[in-house]
Amino acid sequence: MRVTIYEVGPRDGLQNESVTLPVEVKREFIRRLAEAGLTTIEATSFVHPKWVPQLADAAELLAGMPREPGVCYPVLVPNERGLDRATAQGVTDIAIFGSATESFAQRNLNRTVESQFEMFAPVVERALAGGMRVRAYVSMCFGDPWEGPVAPEQVVRVGRRLLDLGCYQLSLGDTIGVGTPGHVDALLDAFEAAGVGPDRLAVHFHDTYGQALANTLAALRRGITVVDASTGGIGGCPYAKSATGNLATEDLVWMLDGLGVETGVDVRSLVATSLWLADLLGRPSPSRVVQALSKE
Ligand code: HMG
Ligand code: MG
Repeated sequence: MRVTIYEVGPRDGLQNESVTLPVEVKREFIRRLAEAGLTTIEATSFVHPKWVPQLADAAELLAGMPREPGVCYPVLVPNERGLDRATAQGVTDIAIFGSATESFAQRNLNRTVESQFEMFAPVVERALAGGMRVRAYVSMCFGDPWEGPVAPEQVVRVGRRLLDLGCYQLSLGDTIGVGTPGHVDALLDAFEAAGVGPDRLAVHFHDTYGQALANTLAALRRGITVVDASTGGIGGCPYAKSATGNLATEDLVWMLDGLGVETGVDVRSLVATSLWLADLLGRPSPSRVVQALSKE
């Protein structure tokens, strides 16, 4: 069995740090991730620079970024303005990001759940016509800080609409990390009942309550083979109260190595990168594997 790790450290990780790293340091971070064996590295996002100042240098970052053969570097794009900016940098892979709840759609996108689709539709249409690959996230799949628990059917309704736009994959986001494995099963049951199988799905867990790895294992047992993670476990969403870092890539690789599941990723190389990054960010990595291996 093989699992594809969709690395989000340079995007989800850095978007929520109080320190904004210089552009050349971000390039070095991305270079190190590819060197460790990651083949999908979400590099940045073309959102409004005032909304996420930490990634305001997206165009400059990509303009001078060496690309490794066999590695793909997707970026977040919310709207047509973002698509124009990404296209100008030769981007081939983008991700749109929808919300399952009204509260988060408003706070994160300044849209209603319904009007987010109007914003995304021309983005996906133009991107596909230009030969790009488009992934979709759906946020608040398990719980929402303003609305509480989110029903699987509500997530499926939004996810189905995003897939129907022409996205090749849906990444199910536990934006605030409140999900537990039973809830993962219930959500995957609901997608299955709607005709969406694990081949179209990825999982995106934040580790706020320490459940990210258990949730990932539950998803793998259901046949999901694409898992989002962030090196060092950095990350969060500035527009989601209480969101902390993603599942750490090191924690994921450690578990998959133990299970004999191939990832092509060298955990020790990632740990060295997380230690280097922690110095620059001024805080230690929350990953237990980073902490354990750094003492060996
Ligand atoms: P808005 O204010 O409604 O934008 O924001 P607008 O369409 O009304 O445009 C207002 C002005 O902004 C215009 O300029 C646009 O050109 C400009 P003016 O004509 O007034 O001079 N503008 C832009 N400029 C640069 N790049 C752009 C852009 N768009 C508009 N892309 C918008 C709507 C979507 C832009 C805003 O809400 C936004 O940027 N939101 C992004 C928030 C964000 O990045 N959140 C974090 C990522 S999501 C996440 O982390 C969750 C995830 O990890 C999964 C999970 O964990 O669940 C993916
Ligand atoms: Mg996220």
